[in-house]
Amino acid sequence: MAEDFVEGLAGGSGAPVGDSGVTRLVGTASDDVERAAEAALRPKRLEEFVGQPVVREQLSLMLRAAVARGSAPDHVLLSGPPGLGKTTLAMIIAAEIGSNLRITSGPAIQHAGDLAAVLSSLEEGEVLFIDEIHRLARPAEELLYSAMEDFRVDIVVGKGPGASAIPLALPPFTVVGATTRSGLLPAPLRDRFGFTGHMDFYSAVELEQVILRSSRLLGTDVGHEAAAEIAGRSRGTPRVANRLLRRVRDWAQVRGDGTLDLHAAESALRVYEVDAIGLDRLDRSVLTALCTRFGGGPVGLTTLAATVGEESDTVETVAEPYLVREGLVARTPRGRVATLAAWEHLGLTPPQDQGASRQGGSTTSTGATTGTLFGA
Ligand SMILES: Nc1ncnc2c1ncn2[C@@H]1O[C@H](COP(=O)(O)OP(=O)(O)O)[C@@H](O)[C@H]1O
Ligand SMILES: [Mg+2]
Repeated sequence: MAEDFVEGLAGGSGAPVGDSGVTRLVGTASDDVERAAEAALRPKRLEEFVGQPVVREQLSLMLRAAVARGSAPDHVLLSGPPGLGKTTLAMIIAAEIGSNLRITSGPAIQHAGDLAAVLSSLEEGEVLFIDEIHRLARPAEELLYSAMEDFRVDIVVGKGPGASAIPLALPPFTVVGATTRSGLLPAPLRDRFGFTGHMDFYSAVELEQVILRSSRLLGTDVGHEAAAEIAGRSRGTPRVANRLLRRVRDWAQVRGDGTLDLHAAESALRVYEVDAIGLDRLDRSVLTALCTRFGGGPVGLTTLAATVGEESDTVETVAEPYLVREGLVARTPRGRVATLAAWEHLGLTPPQDQGASRQGGSTTSTGATTGTLFGA
């Protein structure tokens, strides 16, 4: 299956929002080197795609029906955090309908004209993948409306008062949009997708399958125990799982006897400072500062960031989301609060009146009702 990169428009979009360009082993962004490694590990067909059973079944039905009818499938929107398989699924969609894939991204399209050029070069039945579609410029987005709905674009010829719009009919095609922020997508755009797949974080068992599969493709033989250990530290994200697997393979090659067993996994991840639940050094230093310097909080983001010597933005977008998701940190109106789980994870005893709640999660009210050492 050819994967045509739309010339001059693909890639170059930089690190996805949320990783602030910080290179880290458990980060969800990928760079050019990593993209090459990832390409080799991407499942090519729906049946190879691990996990996401709901999205997979819904897509499978839709694609098979379209193929049976001999028509282009409805436009597909894939939403979810980075590293969960959106790009992979876009490629799979093209493969499943036996069609060509063209790739571009929201930030790569500067002007509506760029998009018009891409659209007018599409051939019948092709799949146009628009990554980070929430970052499309407004005029391009509006052009996309008529293209998606009526398979038509208005090409503007000339400038100023003499300019005129020439309608151009497009052959039927399928847009696959990917977004990490479906909330930022304007409703008219969202409505033009016939199907939206919401991608969720993967379970440890699913990640273990991803790791076993990748290890086969890498020509290595990871043991089940090791696969489970890596899975548990992968933050629910296949991209992280594959990256940790590669580091364990390195360790086994250089320090071990090439066997990817539990010992190799634990040793490698100790070297790379990824702990048992996938926290790295930044995560742990934020957590430790919160507990030991501020008695568990609440403390303001800026103060917390300064204490660990990082930008507030880095702490907020890189470390915090996973800490909150794991229920280790709660955001409260008065600042960040460590939950009981955080103290336990660090092996520390919470202060007597640190009534931090166990159920951190995404709650925003936890800290407001709990007594803390440094209450505002
Ligand atoms: N369901 C899956 N099964 C196996 N590997 C996966 C799966 N989802 C993602 N991956 C792997 O994770 C990496 C990142 O996936 P990608 O599709 O680029 O994520 P996204 O586009 O959502 O950021 C790829 O190398 C891919 O091989
Ligand atoms: Mg992607």
